[in-house]
Amino acid sequence: MNEPRAGRPIGQGTLPNGNLAIGQLRDSFEFLRGFVRNPAQVGSVVPSSRWLEQRLVRQAGIREARTVVELGPGTGGTTAALLQAMPGPARLLAIELDPDFHQHLRASLPDPRLLLELGSAERIADCLAAHHLPAPDAIVSGIPFSTMPPEVSDRIAAAVARVLRPGGRFVAYQVRAHVAGFVTPYLGEPDKQWEMVNVPPVRVFTWVKQPH
Ligand SMILES: C[S@@+](CC[C@H](N)C(=O)[O-])C[C@H]1O[C@@H](n2cnc3c(N)ncnc32)[C@H](O)[C@@H]1O
Repeated sequence: MNEPRAGRPIGQGTLPNGNLAIGQLRDSFEFLRGFVRNPAQVGSVVPSSRWLEQRLVRQAGIREARTVVELGPGTGGTTAALLQAMPGPARLLAIELDPDFHQHLRASLPDPRLLLELGSAERIADCLAAHHLPAPDAIVSGIPFSTMPPEVSDRIAAAVARVLRPGGRFVAYQVRAHVAGFVTPYLGEPDKQWEMVNVPPVRVFTWVKQPH
């Protein structure tokens, strides 16, 4: 299978032939440490694959987006892919709960279009307001809805549905299907796909917010 053409810039992840570069190994190690610290919160032992990253870019319409939000950027593989696909003037707000991952992102992704917030995705409306950002065109989420307390999952689903612009997209990648039970009451039935070239294979759910 061929490596996807678009991806993070060389030097921040992989070499041109797709082999692991030092930065990607460091990110993977940092990610594993995060999983050991808090397995339920991180929800996976390795970062997302390049194939998953590119599926998220397509499903969320990132190439046409102006305001993008990422929930649970982790060590930043997905974040770098979103930044590379976004049009020049777009902004990416990334909200991460783990302080070590948040620091790692600050140090490893010095892109002025990236706005980082430490805290829970439940605060998405406050974070958007703090950065004077309009209703997002796309929200991409890797946070594990299956292992979070149900009331937290519900608050995040409600907040996502509230802040997304009409016609905007919410894309969630998950090992399990719990996210659909939380988000469908707010945004209706999702498109469902699998990304098999990822460890482990994950479901990718896409919702489009209907204009009322
Ligand atoms: C599966 S990892 C995704 C990592 C990265 N996006 C990737 O694909 O490689 C899930 C991330 O969500 C974060 N997270 C979990 N609950 C969260 C919450 N309530 N708000 C924000 N981030 C959260 C975790 O700390 C972790 O970094």
